[in-house]
Amino acid sequence: MAEQKQKSEEQKVLEPVKQIEIETKDLVAASRIWIYIIIGLQAYLIFMILPDINTRMEWMEKDLSSVLVQSERFKKSTRVFAKDNACATCHSIGLAGAPKFADLASWGSRPDEGIEHLTEQVKNGLNGMPPMGMCMDCADEELTAAVQYMLDSL
Ligand code: HEC
Repeated sequence: MAEQKQKSEEQKVLEPVKQIEIETKDLVAASRIWIYIIIGLQAYLIFMILPDINTRMEWMEKDLSSVLVQSERFKKSTRVFAKDNACATCHSIGLAGAPKFADLASWGSRPDEGIEHLTEQVKNGLNGMPPMGMCMDCADEELTAAVQYMLDSL
């Protein structure tokens, strides 16, 4: 009898401990799920999203460098086109029958001749246009850039 009583006393004392044990087990189980979810998300990030970001970055770099190249060309061409008003003197108003800037009709079929041929004509001079388009210290690539700038305006 006394022994039984002692046992139930013991159970009473241990009951809260058991409760804590069960709660801890639940907690561990629940946090294990969270850990799996976090590991899963990280794997997703590493294998799915990061490579995508890499290709996006590459594209952005390509975009950026093409913008830089274009703006460099633009700087060169506007400098020549407006330099001492070299080309603009005639080509902004169509002086001496010059094909006008941003006026497709006045250019006729000239754009079809191709940038290289057009630049060649500028270098040699053509009828009312003096050689080098009056820009004596212009480098070949500056003349090409200026011609391209005029063609882009059409
Ligand atoms: C003194 C005036 C004058 C200046 C300065 C001048 N041009 Fe011209 N340009 C002309 C005339 C006029 C024509 C038309 C020639 C023709 O077809 O008879 C022409 C034609 C052109 C053509 C078309 C050539 C072709 O094959 O039909 C280009 C391209 C051109 N100019 C670019 C330039 C550039 C670039 C500059 C500056 C570096 C320049 N021009 C400066 C008068 C000028």
